[in-house]
Amino acid sequence: MINVLFVCLGNICRSPMAQAVFERMVDDADLTDHFQIDSVGTSGWHIGELHHYGTQQVLYKNGMGTFRHRARQITHDEYTNPDTYIIAMDNSNIEQMRERFGEHPNVHLLLDYFDDDRISEVPDPYYTGGFNGVFELVKQGCAGLLEAIRAEQKI
Ligand code: 4NP
Repeated sequence: MINVLFVCLGNICRSPMAQAVFERMVDDADLTDHFQIDSVGTSGWHIGELHHYGTQQVLYKNGMGTFRHRARQITHDEYTNPDTYIIAMDNSNIEQMRERFGEHPNVHLLLDYFDDDRISEVPDPYYTGGFNGVFELVKQGCAGLLEAIRAEQKI
């Protein structure tokens, strides 16, 4: 089983969006049985809450309205599993995990998998809106991530 854990700050905007998009791509590729996909926040600010209305709307518009989610905070056990692909939305997510739990051998930014030098982090739509633009970035990152994992895991 290939574990993929998407991480953002609150686990209500970006990482649930990435989870929904990646799950759909994996499903479309007929690879659902190979993957365990989830998302978490570095903070515990929104534990138990649904994903943000902006994320709900953009997922609905793109045919993922059935996605179900409750926000969680990353646990020590999740982070320290060396076999998990930890996929963060921005550098502050990575910093916070490092400070709490130490180094991880398999932490990446989602946009490491999107070949565009102008942007390396997924901006936080909680403060600025712009859920549609974030969705496009998340889609690009997830497509590249799936391609990279397929090559690495030979599936
Ligand atoms: P997310 O966005 O990390 O993409 O889920 C945020 C959600 C909540 C807050 C900040 C960012 N907040 O300050 O509560």
